[in-house]
Amino acid sequence: MNGRNYITFLLGQKEISINLEGRNHPFTRLIDHLRDEEGLRDVKEGCGVGDCGACTVVLARPGPEGRLEYVPVNSCLLLLPMVHGCQVITAAHLARNGILHPVQQALVDHHGSQCGFCTPGLVMSMYALWMQDGTTDAVRIAKYLSGNLCRCTGYLPIIDAMQTAMQSRDVPGFQTANEGAYSRLVQIREDQAPIISGHLPHTYTKVFRLSDALDLLSAHPKTRIIAGNTDLGVKFRLPEEPTHYLDISGIAQINGIRYEAGFLELGAARPLEKVRVDCRESLPPLAEMLDLYASTQVRHMATAGGSLGTASPIGDLSPVLLAIGAEVVLQKAGQKRRMHLEDFITGYRTTALQAGEMITHLHLPIPGPGHYNRAYKVSRRKEVDISSVSACFSLEIEEGKVTDLRIAYGGMAAKPLRLRATEELMLGEPWNNATVEEGMAHIRQSLHPICDVRGDASTRSLVAGNLLRRFYLDSLEWQQQQGPTL
Ligand SMILES: Cc1cc2nc3c(=O)[nH]c(=O)nc-3n(C[C@H](O)[C@H](O)[C@H](O)COP(=O)(O)OP(=O)(O)OC[C@H]3O[C@@H](n4cnc5c(N)ncnc54)[C@H](O)[C@@H]3O)c2cc1C
Ligand code: FES
Ligand code: FES
Repeated sequence: MNGRNYITFLLGQKEISINLEGRNHPFTRLIDHLRDEEGLRDVKEGCGVGDCGACTVVLARPGPEGRLEYVPVNSCLLLLPMVHGCQVITAAHLARNGILHPVQQALVDHHGSQCGFCTPGLVMSMYALWMQDGTTDAVRIAKYLSGNLCRCTGYLPIIDAMQTAMQSRDVPGFQTANEGAYSRLVQIREDQAPIISGHLPHTYTKVFRLSDALDLLSAHPKTRIIAGNTDLGVKFRLPEEPTHYLDISGIAQINGIRYEAGFLELGAARPLEKVRVDCRESLPPLAEMLDLYASTQVRHMATAGGSLGTASPIGDLSPVLLAIGAEVVLQKAGQKRRMHLEDFITGYRTTALQAGEMITHLHLPIPGPGHYNRAYKVSRRKEVDISSVSACFSLEIEEGKVTDLRIAYGGMAAKPLRLRATEELMLGEPWNNATVEEGMAHIRQSLHPICDVRGDASTRSLVAGNLLRRFYLDSLEWQQQQGPTL
C-alpha cells in the first residue's frame, strides 16, 4: 500500500507537519507531544487514563454546514497521529492580545480556581461548550463538565463562572478568532492517501477509505484496529510480537448515520457523543444509556464498534443493543455479512469476528410506537463510572397482556445476556405486579453473577431483579398515556 509518513495539523493558529519515522513515534500520546515537544505545560497529566480531565484539549474539525465543530478530548488517550487534519487548541491558545477568554475571566471572577491543577482542562471543556452552545442551564453545564475533576472548589463557583461566561459570547473577536482554520483543515483532509509509519515489529497505518482498511486487514489478518482508543489507550503497551495497528477513526464511510424506514444504520466509527444526539428521538433507551456513559470527552472519542470490539461483560451499549435486536455488519475483503449481536459476542471478551474482518456498521431496528423501552445503569457514582449492573427492557402489551418482551443485562455474567427464559415465562401473562414478581424471582434464580469491587453476587442479583420492578413502575405512567387499549 502506498502512502505518506507524515501528519499535518494546526496547533492553535500554527500549522505543524510531523514526520512519524522512528519506531515508536506514531504511538506517542498527544499529551506527551504537547508537553515535551511543544512546551505546552498548561496541559496537565493527572490519572493518564481518561478519568480526571486535567489533560483536556479541544479538537476543532470541519463539521457539516461549513462550520468547525469543537470537541473536548482527553489528550492522555489520543495518539499523536489521530489529530491529523484537526486543530488542537489548549488553554494557552485562548487569550487574545493579552485579554483572557471570557471563560478564563469568569473563572477568575468567580474564584473557580484554587490549586489550579484542574483549571486548564476545565477551561478547555468550558471553551468547547461556549463555542457551540449558549446554555446557562446549571444541570446541563454540570453534566457537560462531568469529565473534569476538581478537588478544591466544590464545583459551584465553576458552574457560576460558566453561566456568567455564557452571557459574554458576543465579546468581539473571540467567536470569530478561529474562522480561517476551517478552509485550511478541509484542504489538509483532501489528501486521502494512507499515513503509514513505524517499522516492524510495530507499524501504524491511518486510512481514510474503507477499501484501504479491508486491503490492509486482508494482507495482515492479525492487524489490531484502533478506533477511539479509549479502551486500548488505557492499557496501551506495545506487545513483544510483531503487530500492525490500523487506525480507522478517519474513514468517512463508517462515521455516519443513515435513517431508513424502521431502522438506523450506524457507522462503527461514529463517536458515541454524536450517536447520543442522533438517537434522542428515534432510540430513546440508547440515548438514555449514553447520557450515563463515561464523560463528554470520552464519548467524543469512543465508538460503538470499539465498544462491541471489546465484548466487555460490563459494556453499557450491549444490553441496549441486545434488547432492541441490533445486528452487526461485518466486512472483510470480498465478504460482507450481518449477524445478531447475541451471536456476535460469544463469551468473556470473545467475538465471532474472523481474522481480517472488522465491524463496519450496526443495524439498529427502531422499536414501533406501541413499544415501551427503558435502559438503566447502576454504578457507585452517577458520572464517569463503570456499571455494577446495567439493563434494558423492551415491552409491548395488548389488552393488558405481554405480547413482546425483551430483557438484557450487563454485569451479570461473563458476557452481556438476553434473558430469553424469563421473557418466555412472562409472555402472554398480564402485565401486573404478580407477573413482575415472578419475573424478578426467575432472574434472581437463573443468574449467577460475579463478585468484584463493584458489587458482590447477592447485591447484583438483588439489583437485577429490582430493575425489572423499576421498569414496571415506569411503564405504568406510559400505559396511562397510551390510553385504554393497552
Ligand atoms: C474514563 C473512561 C470511562 C469509560 N466509561 C465507560 C462506560 O461508562 N461504559 C462503557 O461501556 N465503557 C466505558 N469505557 C470504555 C470505552 O469507552 C469503551 O469500551 C469504548 O466504547 C471503546 O471504543 P473505542 O472506539 O475507544 O475502542 P478502541 O479502544 O479503539 O478499541 C477497543 C477494541 O475494539 C476493537 N475495535 C475497535 N473498532 C473496531 C471495529 N470497527 N471492528 C472490530 N474491532 C474493533 C479494537 O481492536 C480493540 O480491541 C470508558 C473508558 C474510559 C477511558
Ligand atoms: S490525565 Fe486524567 S484524563 Fe487524562
Ligand atoms: S482547583 Fe484544585 S483541583 Fe481544581
